[in-house]
Amino acid sequence: SQEETISVTFIRADGKKISAKGKEGDSLLDVVVNKEVDLDGFGACEGTLTCSTCHVILSKEVYASLARPTDEELDMLDLAFDLTDTSRLGCQITLTKELDGLEVNVPASVNGARQ
Ligand code: FES
Repeated sequence: SQEETISVTFIRADGKKISAKGKEGDSLLDVVVNKEVDLDGFGACEGTLTCSTCHVILSKEVYASLARPTDEELDMLDLAFDLTDTSRLGCQITLTKELDGLEVNVPASVNGARQ
């Protein structure tokens, strides 16, 4: 069985950093759920690509190192608040050894943006 050796740091909009570990093949959303990372409202659709609450902002280097987002992901990202050129949906990012030490910014979501 795989060990949780890949460390990820989530940087909240308020500046608070929260580090957690996951294993290869986990998504960033899996890490948030499994480790109960304190990110309010993150991952509302549980990774089914029907929300944008798992929006994360990556460094240019990390963004470029990942496989391109699918059209479905891009469609949902379009709805994300504070969209950037290096934005992704956390449920679509899969941990690999190369990502160990990853830092992602989690923008503030707009409370009340839900219909
Ligand atoms: Fe909803 Fe990622 S959790 S799109």
